[in-house]
Amino acid sequence: MNKIKRYRIFLVIILLFIFEYTFIKKTLAEVVFSPSENISIDFFLKNDGSPNYFVKYKDKTIIDTSSMGFDFKNLQSFDQRFKIIEVKKNGKNEIWEMPWGEQRKVIDNYNEMVIILQKKVNPSNLLNIYFRAYDDGMGFRYEFPNQKGVDSIFIMNENTQFKLTGDHTCWWIPGDWDSYEHLYNTTKFSEIDAISKRDHRDLSATYIPENAVNTPITMKIKDGLYLSFHEANLTNYSGMTLKIDNNNLIMTSELVGSDRFGYKVKRKLPFKTPWRTIQICEKATDLIDSKLILNLNEPNKLGNIAWFKPMKYMGIWWEMHIGKSSWNLSSGKHGATTENAKRYIDFASKNNITGLLVEGWNTGWEHWIGFDDREGVFDFVTPYPDYDIEEVVRYGKEKGIEIIMHHETSSAPRTYEKQLDPAFALMKRLGINSVKTGYVGKIIPKGEYHHGQWMINHYRRVIKKAAVNKIAVDVHEPIKPTGLRRTYPNMISREGLRGQEFNAWASDGGNPPEHLSIIAFTRMLAGPIDFTPGVFDIKLDGDSKGNYNKKKNQINTTLTQQLALYVIIYSPIQMTCDLPENYENQPAFQFIRDVGVDWEKSKTLNGEIGDFVTIARQEKDTGNWFLGSITDEEERTITIDFDFLDVDKEYDAIIYKDGKNAHWNNNPMDIDIEKIKINSTMKKTFKLAAGGGLAISLKIRK
Ligand code: NOJ
Ligand code: CA
Repeated sequence: MNKIKRYRIFLVIILLFIFEYTFIKKTLAEVVFSPSENISIDFFLKNDGSPNYFVKYKDKTIIDTSSMGFDFKNLQSFDQRFKIIEVKKNGKNEIWEMPWGEQRKVIDNYNEMVIILQKKVNPSNLLNIYFRAYDDGMGFRYEFPNQKGVDSIFIMNENTQFKLTGDHTCWWIPGDWDSYEHLYNTTKFSEIDAISKRDHRDLSATYIPENAVNTPITMKIKDGLYLSFHEANLTNYSGMTLKIDNNNLIMTSELVGSDRFGYKVKRKLPFKTPWRTIQICEKATDLIDSKLILNLNEPNKLGNIAWFKPMKYMGIWWEMHIGKSSWNLSSGKHGATTENAKRYIDFASKNNITGLLVEGWNTGWEHWIGFDDREGVFDFVTPYPDYDIEEVVRYGKEKGIEIIMHHETSSAPRTYEKQLDPAFALMKRLGINSVKTGYVGKIIPKGEYHHGQWMINHYRRVIKKAAVNKIAVDVHEPIKPTGLRRTYPNMISREGLRGQEFNAWASDGGNPPEHLSIIAFTRMLAGPIDFTPGVFDIKLDGDSKGNYNKKKNQINTTLTQQLALYVIIYSPIQMTCDLPENYENQPAFQFIRDVGVDWEKSKTLNGEIGDFVTIARQEKDTGNWFLGSITDEEERTITIDFDFLDVDKEYDAIIYKDGKNAHWNNNPMDIDIEKIKINSTMKKTFKLAAGGGLAISLKIRK
């Protein structure tokens, strides 16, 4: 063969390659762009017929080619040999209203692409994939249409990959099947090690089977883009953890299982899975303002829920956590007495607080924690003899305070479901509109986990039954929020993180000063948080009578940060958690009296994950603004531009700032309070102490 001939053959081969590559791409890659065209999602089938997608932001790949698939108990795996039958494109641009929330109006604007797939070998095997591209991220979900000869499918594994494009900085908690009450870790992706978080002394239930994380997991890409991975509309399915492949920079969905059944999910056909979501933002602050998760849920199914009013509430609660009293009558220091409840009601009614939670009111607490046999312990209708529930409710009504019911199920959901009708009937008879539920301990029956399909269906049954009874629910030890408050707005708030209670008793010294500046960009992206802010006895020194004294515990923030949390953390019920006596004669308490709980608008003004964050919220109806800012263990100077205020108005501002010598550990109570006039043309600079904060109320001048 002469040189020219060889060169020609070589050229033909190269051209063939190029042709085949473009041909495959052209015929098989389907793409959908977000309305701004910044985000694109490509879907294609590889030569083996396996479904794959990748995601770009402004032409830069941010999720590399990632495969999708399922293993079943009763069907051949859905992994390869698919062909595309059809591709449908849709879109939406609408505004909807929240009955309560961070803001009244939400824009829902996306482009959608639906891929209809069929197995080549077995044409009755069908799978549809919905991709939605928004300007603040993307979501996709699977739909299983009817499959000939199959009534239900049993999913053994969902294998959705997210292949990262670099070793990003990640804020993560372990993929615990029972609890989200872990501290967030900040590491490179390659350093995520969930197994090292297994030995957790302070959790009543925890199970971390492998190196996986729970969602939301938030990441920062080197050149500045922020990503947060989560799921939306988790309905009749198992919670998704993400298995970590440190070396190959891949996360793969790992559904929470059940030791009783072996499979992960059982569903009757046809059905749709929850959405797998990625929030994609240029600024960390935009993650907080993004409403992607809510937009991927169905509209309100309950209609008008004016019977629920967002509120600040107190509780016979903190006193148990700090050991001043107990839930348990036989302890000799029972907290839930008629007299004590009236004391709280008196205080709340004088201080613009409208709710009171009473824990430990019902019989059974003698047999609560540490018992294996917890079925039938609580009945949710029988008060302890020193608690006259009728009288407390009556007295509360007289003083404008509504009682919040408490149902600690002790993770015996079958008992709870049996008791739901009489429990809700009692609430209805008394005119109680909201309940806090709790699921402390390992789930009974053994082999089920808090975040598996069986429990997710339990939590949902409670929400639905509560909705029928016009009852709002605040869940502790819950399944994570996935935006369901849009569909069921009686699902008002939940824990699902390391809350304030850990500061009262955790053996590791409580939540570090950086905790909430991470939470704001991780857990809070999922939904409202019942964190229970507002501790004023920061050092937990107790009172002169020695009623309590927690020498080994304290709150690791300044007093000012406790105030700022009423604006930073979003929840339609916000606790004023300390004891009434700890608020007496405290000028800083004025902020808690004044601060709103339901918002017309919210704006995240500045922030970096794990460092600091500032949020301003405008109260519905009054138009007044409240601002909160918090920092981690570093002191810092921040400048606030008040241009978010209405231009034609003047505001009477009360500024609560860390004192000159404030420090979360050495001097947490040092606070300066200043009254000035502020308008939208002003800018002001403030110093936040280490572990400190800033809180400002801005009332429109009449
Ligand atoms: C754990 C909850 O997080 C806490 O708020 C509650 O007081 C106890 N369980 C008792 O139900
Ligand atoms: Ca808890």
